[in-house]
Amino acid sequence: MARKKDQSKKNSKVRSLITKLSPRSPISEQYRTVRTNLEFSSVDHKLQSLLVTSAGPGEGKSMTTANLAVVYAQQGKRVLLIDADLRKPTVHYTFRLDNLKGLSNVLVGETSLQDAVGQSDVDNLDVMSCGPIPPNPSELLASNRMVRLLEEAKQAYDIVIFDTPPVLAVTDSQILATLVDGAVLVVRSKQTENDAALKAIDAISSVNAKVLGTVLNDRNKKEANYYYYYGNS
Ligand SMILES: Nc1ncnc2c1ncn2[C@@H]1O[C@H](COP(=O)(O)OP(=O)(O)OP(=O)(O)O)[C@@H](O)[C@H]1O
Ligand SMILES: [Mg+2]
Repeated sequence: MARKKDQSKKNSKVRSLITKLSPRSPISEQYRTVRTNLEFSSVDHKLQSLLVTSAGPGEGKSMTTANLAVVYAQQGKRVLLIDADLRKPTVHYTFRLDNLKGLSNVLVGETSLQDAVGQSDVDNLDVMSCGPIPPNPSELLASNRMVRLLEEAKQAYDIVIFDTPPVLAVTDSQILATLVDGAVLVVRSKQTENDAALKAIDAISSVNAKVLGTVLNDRNKKEANYYYYYGNS
Protein backbone atom coordinates (compact mmCIF):
# COMPACT_ATOMS: atom_id res chain seq x y z
CA MET A 1 0.00 0.00 0.00
CA ALA A 2 2.63 2.46 1.13
CA ARG A 3 4.75 1.63 -1.89
CA LYS A 4 1.91 2.30 -4.30
CA LYS A 5 1.30 5.67 -2.71
CA ASP A 6 4.98 6.61 -3.02
CA GLN A 7 4.94 5.62 -6.68
CA SER A 8 1.93 7.80 -7.48
CA LYS A 9 3.51 10.71 -5.64
CA LYS A 10 6.61 10.24 -7.76
CA ASN A 11 4.59 10.09 -10.97
CA SER A 12 2.68 13.23 -10.10
CA LYS A 13 5.98 15.06 -10.32
CA VAL A 14 6.75 13.78 -13.81
CA ARG A 15 5.71 16.58 -16.09
CA SER A 16 5.67 15.68 -19.76
CA LEU A 17 6.41 18.16 -22.50
CA ILE A 18 4.21 18.04 -25.58
CA THR A 19 6.75 19.84 -27.75
CA LYS A 20 9.24 17.06 -27.01
CA LEU A 21 6.87 14.09 -27.16
CA SER A 22 4.72 15.27 -30.02
CA PRO A 23 6.42 18.05 -31.96
CA ARG A 24 3.95 17.86 -34.87
CA SER A 25 0.82 18.25 -32.73
CA PRO A 26 -1.35 21.40 -33.02
CA ILE A 27 -0.36 22.43 -29.50
CA SER A 28 3.34 22.26 -30.37
CA GLU A 29 2.50 24.32 -33.44
CA GLN A 30 0.96 26.94 -31.12
CA TYR A 31 4.19 27.10 -29.15
CA ARG A 32 6.07 27.69 -32.39
CA THR A 33 3.61 30.50 -33.12
CA VAL A 34 4.42 32.03 -29.74
CA ARG A 35 8.14 31.79 -30.62
CA THR A 36 7.56 33.50 -33.97
CA ASN A 37 5.47 36.24 -32.39
CA LEU A 38 8.14 36.82 -29.77
CA GLU A 39 10.66 37.32 -32.53
CA PHE A 40 8.36 39.88 -34.17
CA SER A 41 7.76 41.64 -30.85
CA SER A 42 11.42 42.49 -30.68
CA VAL A 43 12.39 43.47 -34.21
CA ASP A 44 14.83 46.22 -33.33
CA HIS A 45 16.81 44.14 -30.86
CA LYS A 46 17.73 40.50 -31.03
CA LEU A 47 15.84 38.72 -28.26
CA GLN A 48 18.58 37.23 -26.09
CA SER A 49 16.84 36.80 -22.77
CA LEU A 50 13.28 36.59 -21.57
CA LEU A 51 11.29 35.49 -18.56
CA VAL A 52 7.92 33.90 -18.24
CA THR A 53 5.62 34.88 -15.41
CA SER A 54 1.94 35.15 -14.48
CA ALA A 55 -0.17 36.99 -11.97
CA GLY A 56 -0.79 34.13 -9.57
CA PRO A 57 0.21 30.54 -8.84
CA GLY A 58 -0.53 27.52 -11.01
CA GLU A 59 -1.35 29.35 -14.23
CA GLY A 60 1.12 27.42 -16.38
CA LYS A 61 4.32 29.48 -16.18
CA SER A 62 6.62 26.50 -15.82
CA MET A 63 5.01 24.40 -18.54
CA THR A 64 4.99 27.37 -20.91
CA THR A 65 8.64 28.17 -20.15
CA ALA A 66 9.77 24.60 -20.70
CA ASN A 67 7.83 24.17 -23.94
CA LEU A 68 9.07 27.50 -25.25
CA ALA A 69 12.65 26.52 -24.45
CA VAL A 70 12.15 23.26 -26.36
CA VAL A 71 10.77 24.94 -29.50
CA TYR A 72 13.63 27.46 -29.49
CA ALA A 73 16.10 24.56 -29.23
CA GLN A 74 14.29 22.67 -31.99
CA GLN A 75 14.88 25.70 -34.19
CA GLY A 76 18.62 25.13 -33.73
CA LYS A 77 19.21 27.90 -31.19
CA ARG A 78 21.50 27.19 -28.24
CA VAL A 79 19.14 27.64 -25.32
CA LEU A 80 19.69 27.92 -21.58
CA LEU A 81 16.60 27.47 -19.41
CA ILE A 82 17.11 28.76 -15.86
CA ASP A 83 14.78 27.95 -12.98
CA ALA A 84 14.57 31.29 -11.23
CA ASP A 85 11.58 30.19 -9.17
CA LEU A 86 13.72 29.85 -6.07
CA ARG A 87 10.58 29.27 -3.99
CA LYS A 88 8.71 26.52 -5.81
CA PRO A 89 11.10 25.12 -8.41
CA THR A 90 9.88 22.49 -10.89
CA VAL A 91 12.29 22.61 -13.85
CA HIS A 92 14.36 19.70 -12.48
CA TYR A 93 11.22 17.55 -12.32
CA THR A 94 10.25 18.44 -15.86
CA PHE A 95 13.69 17.55 -17.24
CA ARG A 96 14.35 14.76 -14.72
CA LEU A 97 17.55 16.26 -13.42
CA ASP A 98 18.83 16.28 -9.88
CA ASN A 99 18.73 19.60 -8.11
CA LEU A 100 22.00 19.35 -6.24
CA LYS A 101 23.58 22.35 -7.92
CA GLY A 102 21.88 25.22 -9.62
CA LEU A 103 21.14 28.93 -9.72
CA SER A 104 21.26 29.47 -5.95
CA ASN A 105 24.79 28.01 -5.79
CA VAL A 106 25.99 30.36 -8.52
CA LEU A 107 24.35 33.35 -6.84
CA VAL A 108 26.12 32.72 -3.53
CA GLY A 109 29.43 32.30 -5.34
CA GLU A 110 29.88 28.57 -4.68
CA THR A 111 29.68 27.35 -8.24
CA SER A 112 30.47 28.53 -11.74
CA LEU A 113 27.82 28.79 -14.44
CA GLN A 114 29.29 25.80 -16.29
CA ASP A 115 29.19 23.63 -13.18
CA ALA A 116 25.59 24.51 -12.44
CA VAL A 117 24.30 23.72 -15.93
CA GLY A 118 22.99 20.31 -16.92
CA GLN A 119 22.31 18.91 -20.35
CA SER A 120 18.70 18.09 -21.13
CA ASP A 121 17.60 15.26 -23.39
CA VAL A 122 16.67 17.84 -26.03
CA ASP A 123 19.45 18.81 -28.45
CA ASN A 124 20.69 22.40 -27.96
CA LEU A 125 18.86 22.79 -24.64
CA ASP A 126 20.80 23.17 -21.40
CA VAL A 127 19.09 23.57 -18.07
CA MET A 128 20.08 25.25 -14.82
CA SER A 129 17.86 24.05 -12.02
CA CYS A 130 17.15 26.13 -8.94
CA GLY A 131 19.66 24.47 -6.61
CA PRO A 132 19.05 24.36 -2.85
CA ILE A 133 16.16 26.69 -1.93
CA PRO A 134 17.71 29.80 -0.34
CA PRO A 135 16.17 31.83 2.51
CA ASN A 136 16.53 35.12 0.60
CA PRO A 137 15.53 34.63 -3.07
CA SER A 138 14.78 38.28 -3.89
CA GLU A 139 18.09 39.45 -2.49
CA LEU A 140 20.00 36.86 -4.51
CA LEU A 141 18.18 37.74 -7.73
CA ALA A 142 18.91 41.44 -7.16
CA SER A 143 22.64 40.80 -6.66
CA ASN A 144 25.53 41.74 -8.93
CA ARG A 145 26.24 38.04 -9.36
CA MET A 146 22.88 37.69 -11.08
CA VAL A 147 23.81 40.43 -13.55
CA ARG A 148 27.17 38.77 -14.23
CA LEU A 149 25.59 35.33 -14.60
CA LEU A 150 23.19 36.64 -17.23
CA GLU A 151 26.01 38.37 -19.14
CA GLU A 152 28.03 35.17 -19.14
CA ALA A 153 25.04 33.07 -20.17
CA LYS A 154 24.29 35.41 -23.09
CA GLN A 155 27.85 34.90 -24.35
CA ALA A 156 27.49 31.15 -24.32
CA TYR A 157 23.89 30.79 -25.56
CA ASP A 158 21.66 32.30 -28.23
CA ILE A 159 18.79 32.75 -25.80
CA VAL A 160 18.37 32.55 -22.02
CA ILE A 161 14.88 31.81 -20.72
CA PHE A 162 13.82 32.15 -17.07
CA ASP A 163 11.02 30.43 -15.22
CA THR A 164 9.88 32.70 -12.38
CA PRO A 165 7.37 32.91 -9.48
CA PRO A 166 4.02 34.75 -9.73
CA VAL A 167 4.53 38.48 -10.19
CA LEU A 168 1.76 39.58 -7.83
CA ALA A 169 2.97 37.35 -4.99
CA VAL A 170 6.64 38.25 -4.73
CA THR A 171 9.03 40.77 -6.22
CA ASP A 172 11.39 38.23 -7.87
CA SER A 173 10.02 38.42 -11.41
CA GLN A 174 9.99 42.21 -11.33
CA ILE A 175 13.66 42.18 -10.34
CA LEU A 176 14.54 39.80 -13.16
CA ALA A 177 12.34 41.67 -15.64
CA THR A 178 14.67 44.66 -15.33
CA LEU A 179 17.59 42.48 -16.46
CA VAL A 180 16.09 40.60 -19.40
CA ASP A 181 14.90 41.84 -22.79
CA GLY A 182 11.27 41.26 -21.87
CA ALA A 183 8.61 39.28 -20.05
CA VAL A 184 5.94 36.91 -21.33
CA LEU A 185 2.78 36.84 -19.26
CA VAL A 186 0.81 33.61 -18.99
CA VAL A 187 -2.93 33.88 -18.45
CA ARG A 188 -4.88 30.71 -17.69
CA SER A 189 -8.31 30.34 -19.16
CA LYS A 190 -11.11 30.39 -16.54
CA GLN A 191 -8.57 30.97 -13.78
CA THR A 192 -6.75 34.27 -14.15
CA GLU A 193 -8.97 37.22 -13.21
CA ASN A 194 -8.93 40.14 -15.68
CA ASP A 195 -7.98 42.48 -12.93
CA ALA A 196 -5.05 40.31 -11.83
CA ALA A 197 -3.73 40.09 -15.41
CA LEU A 198 -3.85 43.89 -15.72
CA LYS A 199 -2.11 44.30 -12.37
CA ALA A 200 0.59 41.87 -13.51
CA ILE A 201 1.21 43.93 -16.66
CA ASP A 202 1.36 47.08 -14.50
CA ALA A 203 3.81 45.43 -12.11
CA ILE A 204 6.19 44.66 -14.96
CA SER A 205 5.75 48.01 -16.67
CA SER A 206 6.23 49.87 -13.37
CA VAL A 207 9.87 48.74 -13.22
CA ASN A 208 10.37 49.93 -16.81
CA ALA A 209 10.55 46.37 -18.09
CA LYS A 210 8.94 45.25 -21.31
CA VAL A 211 5.93 42.95 -21.60
CA LEU A 212 6.60 41.12 -24.86
CA GLY A 213 3.15 39.56 -25.00
CA THR A 214 0.64 37.29 -23.34
CA VAL A 215 0.06 33.56 -23.71
CA LEU A 216 -3.44 32.25 -23.10
CA ASN A 217 -2.98 28.82 -21.58
CA ASP A 218 -5.45 25.96 -21.25
CA ARG A 219 -8.19 27.23 -23.46
CA ASN A 220 -10.97 24.65 -23.92
CA LYS A 221 -9.86 22.49 -26.82
CA LYS A 222 -13.41 22.22 -28.13
CA GLU A 223 -13.42 25.94 -28.68
CA ALA A 224 -10.00 26.29 -30.22
CA ASN A 225 -6.37 25.38 -29.85
CA TYR A 226 -4.92 25.54 -26.38
CA TYR A 227 -2.41 28.27 -26.73
CA TYR A 228 -2.81 31.74 -28.08
CA TYR A 229 -0.42 34.58 -28.13
CA TYR A 230 -1.35 38.22 -28.03
CA GLY A 231 1.32 40.74 -28.83
CA ASN A 232 1.66 43.73 -26.62
CA SER A 233 1.24 46.48 -29.16
N1 LIG B 1 -2.71 23.72 -20.73
C1 LIG B 1 -2.70 22.87 -19.72
N2 LIG B 1 -3.43 21.75 -19.77
C2 LIG B 1 -3.42 20.89 -18.73
N3 LIG B 1 -2.71 21.03 -17.62
C3 LIG B 1 -1.95 22.13 -17.51
C4 LIG B 1 -1.89 23.10 -18.55
N4 LIG B 1 -1.04 24.08 -18.17
C5 LIG B 1 -0.60 23.73 -16.94
N5 LIG B 1 -1.13 22.57 -16.54
C6 LIG B 1 -0.90 21.88 -15.26
O1 LIG B 1 -1.20 22.80 -14.22
C7 LIG B 1 -0.26 22.69 -13.16
C8 LIG B 1 0.43 24.03 -12.98
O2 LIG B 1 1.23 24.29 -14.14
P1 LIG B 1 2.65 24.96 -13.99
O3 LIG B 1 3.47 24.27 -12.97
O4 LIG B 1 3.19 25.12 -15.35
O5 LIG B 1 2.16 26.35 -13.41
P2 LIG B 1 3.00 27.49 -12.70
O6 LIG B 1 2.33 28.77 -13.07
O7 LIG B 1 4.43 27.34 -13.02
O8 LIG B 1 2.75 27.17 -11.16
P3 LIG B 1 3.55 27.80 -9.92
O9 LIG B 1 2.94 29.15 -9.67
O10 LIG B 1 3.25 26.82 -8.83
O11 LIG B 1 4.99 27.87 -10.29
C9 LIG B 1 0.71 21.56 -13.57
O12 LIG B 1 0.28 20.37 -12.97
C10 LIG B 1 0.57 21.49 -15.07
O13 LIG B 1 0.84 20.21 -15.57
MG1 LIG C 1 6.13 27.18 -11.80
